[in-house]
Amino acid sequence: ISIDVNKKGIAISPMLYGAFFEDINSGADGGLYAELVQNRSFEFPDGLQSWDISAIGNDKVEFSVEDKGSISSKNPHYLRVQVNKIDKGVKIVNYGYNGITIKSGESYRLSLYARTPNNKINTIIATIEDDNGKIGAKVEVKGITNAWKQYELTFKAANTISDGQLVIKVAKEGILDLDMVSLFPQKTWKNRKNGLRYDIAKLIADLKPAFLRFPGGCIVEGRTMATAYRWKNTIGDISERPTIENLWGYYQSFGLGFYEYFQFCEDIGAEPVPVINCGMACQARNGDMIDLNRLDEYIQDALDLIEFANGDVNTKWGFVRAKLGHPKPFNLKFIAIGNEQWGTDYYIRYEKFYDAIKKKYPNIKVIFAAGPAPSGKIFDDAWTWAKTTKKADIIDEHYYMALEWFLMNTDRYSTYDRKGPKVFVGEYAAHGLGRRNNLEAALAEAAYLLGLEKNSDVVLMASYAPLLAKQYATQWEPTLIKFNNEMAYATPNYYVQKIFNENKGKYILPITLKTTSSNKSADITGMVGLGTWITEAEFKDFKVIDNKTRRTLFADNFKDSYGKWQIVRGMWNIENGIFSQTSNAENCYAVAGDSNWSNYTIQVKARKVSGN
Ligand code: AHR
Repeated sequence: ISIDVNKKGIAISPMLYGAFFEDINSGADGGLYAELVQNRSFEFPDGLQSWDISAIGNDKVEFSVEDKGSISSKNPHYLRVQVNKIDKGVKIVNYGYNGITIKSGESYRLSLYARTPNNKINTIIATIEDDNGKIGAKVEVKGITNAWKQYELTFKAANTISDGQLVIKVAKEGILDLDMVSLFPQKTWKNRKNGLRYDIAKLIADLKPAFLRFPGGCIVEGRTMATAYRWKNTIGDISERPTIENLWGYYQSFGLGFYEYFQFCEDIGAEPVPVINCGMACQARNGDMIDLNRLDEYIQDALDLIEFANGDVNTKWGFVRAKLGHPKPFNLKFIAIGNEQWGTDYYIRYEKFYDAIKKKYPNIKVIFAAGPAPSGKIFDDAWTWAKTTKKADIIDEHYYMALEWFLMNTDRYSTYDRKGPKVFVGEYAAHGLGRRNNLEAALAEAAYLLGLEKNSDVVLMASYAPLLAKQYATQWEPTLIKFNNEMAYATPNYYVQKIFNENKGKYILPITLKTTSSNKSADITGMVGLGTWITEAEFKDFKVIDNKTRRTLFADNFKDSYGKWQIVRGMWNIENGIFSQTSNAENCYAVAGDSNWSNYTIQVKARKVSGN
């Protein structure tokens, strides 16, 4: 190998290594967003999810979730508890996000809206305690009247409670209404009131991401347009942020909203890269879309978002930002239209967004989505459309592939057009056996990142996905950071990101590799070479009979029932065109179809690992 240190090759993109945050795996509510009470404003369809109301003794109690006369029309529900007969008292319990953890000596802030319509229940007692009745902290809320009022109390925990609950005790007969019951650690990231969980935020900050892509991912799309992410629902007082179901099957409070995202980006020196709904719900889940004649409202959302981030205080949305506490603009430079969308329906919508944004904000870089797989028609069509129309500054590619795919594709971008749009690898991760975070996957990603660096005249930005996963609340593995209610820790894949980012060079130095041997293993029975794509029909032409001629299969395009690629590992035997998985799983990989193997399509890359 010779390296020419006197010649500067291409410059390495200074913003190559970023992060992507999505509320998946309880990443926001129950995760990065430090709120400890779940369903704090009783808006979940089961209004009492995560709540329990019971008599301690022979008390007589009735309760209901009401929706008339609440504190906010955006969050219309609240809890009514009517104690008809008092004995030992009534308990109103919230179980948090799989329990509530508080630490001895640390301070917490309880805030709630309360009223007692018949003016009887003027005092309640709140404790954080475990199942055995061990109390970590206790506060009294006094002076409750018949009008809604917000009560806020800060207290220090006397004991650590690792799997606790918030218990509100009522010891009198009467009616009590409660809404927006919230419990936060005092210590949050930058000690903000509606803040982020310190340990998770710190791990993200320590990555020093050059940019932060947010808030998703599929949650931007929603399963239907009714549950699509709309940024205007996520700013202002938390009582004005409606709760909706997110695409990953749980409810989001939007307590972590666009103001908080921008603020966090500023804190950690990351360029904000917001993703906005393009008027289409999740295509992979057959979501619906907005008619073109109603799209203006969504385009306006995008324009208003740019004004919210960059407008001065005399603009409508710049004023809103200033009122929220940030008169200085956030200096937004990028906006992504859609997440994983494709085809003509997307192109027509995207183009309308693009034209409107460029007309008003020509300097904003608009990011176009290439869809959810690194090869095939969706990607090719997207690139063709973008290159022909010249209406994309950056193209967002996503891929979750086998480790070997990463190892075999380190040169993926060497053939990309240097004069076309730049690439943003907005989501990627190497998926190995069991989709675990481990050194093997981390090394495959590391090798691939070298390929991105070498081609970073084309690849501007890249972010691993997803970022966070909560124990027992995970929909998607692997991720960079794991956490539960007590702790957060980083994976080997996280350290790859960190090491690469911290040691990023400025230029690539030209390298020449001279070798005398030729790699014969690429030649498989004269039919396909290493890495050559073959069709299913051609695949059946393989006459492979004994152990000697086993092949390593590296297959792509097996569709699972979600329309995604699923990756498994195993030794594959091919006999007279029939292939079957053997128990010997060493060094061989394949991509699998649905769980019972009855339904799949196949396109394989094959290479020989043994035999002549
Ligand atoms: O990162 C997990 C999901 O993968 C994202 O929400 C989506 O964009 C992709 O399909």
